[in-house]
Amino acid sequence: MGNLCGRPTRCANASSPFASKNTLTGSSTSISTDSSKKASSKATSSLPSFNNTDGSPTKLQSFNNTDGSPTKLKSFSLNELKAATRNFRSDSFLGEGGFGCVFKGWIDEKTFAPTRPGTGIVVAVKKLKRESFQGHKEWLTEVTYLGQLHHENLVKLIGYCSEDDNKLLVYEFMPRGSLENHLFKRGAQPISWNMRVNIAVDVARGLSFLHSLPIQVIYRDLKASNVLLDSDFNAKLSDFGLARNGPTGDNTHVSTRVVGTRGYAAPEYVATGRLSLTSDMYSFGVVLLELLSGRRALDEDRGAAEETLVEWAKPFLSNKRKMFRIMDTRLGGQYSKKGAQTIASLALQCIHIDPKNRPNIAEVLAELEKLQSARESMAATQQIYSRG
Ligand SMILES: Nc1ncnc2c1ncn2[C@@H]1O[C@H](COP(=O)(O)OP(=O)(O)O)[C@@H](O)[C@H]1O
Ligand SMILES: [Mg+2]
Repeated sequence: MGNLCGRPTRCANASSPFASKNTLTGSSTSISTDSSKKASSKATSSLPSFNNTDGSPTKLQSFNNTDGSPTKLKSFSLNELKAATRNFRSDSFLGEGGFGCVFKGWIDEKTFAPTRPGTGIVVAVKKLKRESFQGHKEWLTEVTYLGQLHHENLVKLIGYCSEDDNKLLVYEFMPRGSLENHLFKRGAQPISWNMRVNIAVDVARGLSFLHSLPIQVIYRDLKASNVLLDSDFNAKLSDFGLARNGPTGDNTHVSTRVVGTRGYAAPEYVATGRLSLTSDMYSFGVVLLELLSGRRALDEDRGAAEETLVEWAKPFLSNKRKMFRIMDTRLGGQYSKKGAQTIASLALQCIHIDPKNRPNIAEVLAELEKLQSARESMAATQQIYSRG
């Protein structure tokens, strides 16, 4: 069995940030907010300008956690990762995105040395496509952000490999794969309403963590394929290659090259390159719509009127009865009507055309958590009654 990654037959999937039709790429990168002149020399390197909590700049291999402790990112050799994945064999293949292919590997829990399959811990090894020039920058952005940011709703980066042009990333393995696979893949077991609410809460928690950091982080690539699920269907955000620091001071946005994924990217960002926390809120609204409807953000197999989920769903969302027409039929009607109306209303606010009218993530998270706890207390009451 050979090495799969890089074979032309397996090309980038349609929803990846690099995929041809759905890619969003503008001209040149520039930080052009009034206040960002000072930052422009840093910006041209296109790397996130992160500082440790003590104010010192971070370097690639000397990160500090927010509590001041050093982050232990393991630097793997290519040979170690070849051994861990059985030379990137096709039976270790997990999937492919714009960055490259992802393989399952095995390492020792303590030493992180490669182990025999079935022993130690499972990891996901992402291998950058050689020809991806943009990927090198994203690789470094991912290592920089995920090396420093730790939260239960962000996927854990264990280490990386950088040997000449070989750039790889090693993550905790997420056994249930991506939300995209569960919602849209033909033949996939439909996920229940309760799970969908939990996933929405988890995604909102991850985003809320990023948006409330001292130096706010704009994720910029929120989409169903970047929401990964662990064995208990807890959701975590992955792929920080497009993330960047939010505006500072009185600024509301940073101006930047337009990258992201069609169907998820906020319209004003696509039109002007002005990126802000509210751009993430738009994408969050799209993911809420995907959870409600089981339809993709962008589906070219549907007719023009239904191709873009936001355009199709919007007219239904503002009406409390009509909104049920967008619900995923795979739920078989098994969902809370009130809960669905609440989420539809949140989604509608998030996809508001004027970014100023979108709610912030803390507000949305509070609403979703209310929904989750109401549901849990109802389930507990039902259990008490059924026990008699
Ligand atoms: N940490 C992980 N654990 C398990 N599977 C993963 C992990 N990371 C990625 N994958 C799988 O690999 C696929 C490709 O991932 P990725 O390269 O991030 O591309 P995309 O985000 O465009 O799907 C994902 O859809 C998922 O199925
Ligand atoms: Mg991904």
